[in-house]
Amino acid sequence: MRQTDFLVIGSGIAGLTYALKVASQFPDKKVLVMTKATADETNTKYAQGGIAVVNDMENDSFEKHIEDTLVAGDGLCNEKVVEIVVKEGPDRVQEIIDWGAQFDKEADGDYKRGKEGGHSEFRILHHKDVTGREMERALIEAVGRQKNIEFIKHCFVVDIITQHHLGFLVSKATPDIECYGVYVLNLETNKIEKILARITLLATGGNGQVYRTTTNPSIATGDGVAMLYRAKGRVENMEFIQFHPTALYEPGVRGQAFLITEAVRGDGGILRNKDGEAFMERYDERKDLAPRDIVARAIDSEMKRTGTEHVWLDCRHFSKEKFTDHFPNIYEKCLSIGIDITKHMIPVSPAAHYSCGGIKTDEWGRSSVKYLYACGECASTGLHGANRLASNSLLEAMVFAHRCYMDSTVSMNELLTDERLAEIWKQIPDWNARGTSEPREMILITQSLKELQQVMSDYVGIVRNDIRLQRAMRRIDLLWEETEQLYQGSTLSPQLLELRNMITVGYLIVKSATFRKESRGLHFNTDYPGKSPLVQNIVL
Ligand code: FAD
Ligand code: SIN
Repeated sequence: MRQTDFLVIGSGIAGLTYALKVASQFPDKKVLVMTKATADETNTKYAQGGIAVVNDMENDSFEKHIEDTLVAGDGLCNEKVVEIVVKEGPDRVQEIIDWGAQFDKEADGDYKRGKEGGHSEFRILHHKDVTGREMERALIEAVGRQKNIEFIKHCFVVDIITQHHLGFLVSKATPDIECYGVYVLNLETNKIEKILARITLLATGGNGQVYRTTTNPSIATGDGVAMLYRAKGRVENMEFIQFHPTALYEPGVRGQAFLITEAVRGDGGILRNKDGEAFMERYDERKDLAPRDIVARAIDSEMKRTGTEHVWLDCRHFSKEKFTDHFPNIYEKCLSIGIDITKHMIPVSPAAHYSCGGIKTDEWGRSSVKYLYACGECASTGLHGANRLASNSLLEAMVFAHRCYMDSTVSMNELLTDERLAEIWKQIPDWNARGTSEPREMILITQSLKELQQVMSDYVGIVRNDIRLQRAMRRIDLLWEETEQLYQGSTLSPQLLELRNMITVGYLIVKSATFRKESRGLHFNTDYPGKSPLVQNIVL
């Protein structure tokens, strides 16, 4: 058993930003950062386009960024939260620059600013086409300089410890559910350990792996959302899954798809169908730079209409110098599979990319469970509403990591007393693995995962309807039943834990989608093509 003052689950931009802040504010307290993979294997590392922020007051304004975010969010953004993120954003971006992150600059020293779908101005700071890698690098280096942060890799957090583990009945109606720490599967020893913490932060990222094709790496399995839901906490707006319009189409490649950043269209890339038509003109006056939901649906519709598995992104009019200056990583990746972007068009198709909903938090990042914060992609702060504006998530993660930190400094004084904590900690049982054995066949796990991804992609993708959702729910129910049986009888493995979490996330997406009897933002149901006048969040 270990004890810490602050427990941070996740080593992406959200977790590391929070860890750095609490560690420097409380140098005599212990901060423990845990990740189930290597230090930098996160969604953050793969971010390409950049971070949206207003830092050119001559040509841009907070009001414009707020308006763009609200338009993309299609009526469901929390306006106060939008204002908070946009207005606090510049200070947070300056902090990561101070920690060592570099963003591209013009010859005169001013920042280069990119544009993506839904933005009315050029405001996206970037580091070539590997912005996330650069930000993650700077954060990991800064964490390494902070003496009171311990960084533990390859530890899989299994469940949040609450009163339930002390023998009390905890339900959604329980008013003050408290978090005392977590159970983790140490992947090096294969043992389940208890980590007890005064304050816990969930920064576990997204859930793209629930779908067959996603831009997300394999860690993105929705663990934080599933854990919180099992602990009877509140999640919201899970139906709003953002599909990125332009993942590289590579036949036969499963799992993580390589992203072709929207910034390529921001710089002039044009989508074409199999007949060479620049089809976006028919769908939206903003053409290739319409918000993501519109572009992804347009591509989906063109693919279905023409019977193809992808459309094309045409960059042949770029000079090689211009393209490689901004997008060297994409240039190299395309070349490695025989696509010279100056001569050939890039085959692209939509892929699951971002979860707009998640753990419901207030404007200080507090979840519905006491002593438990959430920020980054696993959280639903109210910023994105029904559709996230491109490049707003890195910004949101930093702003809310800061707000969780601010609130933690206040709540440090209101935490359980040392005596009460010692009493609780004595009562928390060790993990009970009695009666479990190694699963006999991995196929029971791998096949169920394939089925889940198939069901989610075919029935709960860009376009939905009631029959598809009903079918999806029936199949997920069965997968859930079979996987629970396996879980009860098996020694734990990351594959089994992730499958269990992804089934829970799939269930939450389908359930929320079923409740939303309208089409709004990223949720498009052909049985209800219009918007309902009753504008609401779906909270589960
Ligand atoms: P992550 O960076 O995903 O980190 C999650 C962490 O949690 C990881 O360390 C993981 O190991 C850990 N974890 C998860 N479950 C467990 C568990 N059970 N136990 C222990 N550890 C666990 N956004 C933008 O704003 N601009 C962009 O240009 C942009 N481009 C993107 C490009 C791609 C290809 C992708 C996939 C996303 C992009 N996004 C972009 C979205 C953005 O990158 C993410 O939303 C953001 O980085 C999420 O950060 P995070 O800290 O919340 O989570
Ligand atoms: C991209 O670079 O196209 C992704 C940006 C984002 O998801 O915000």
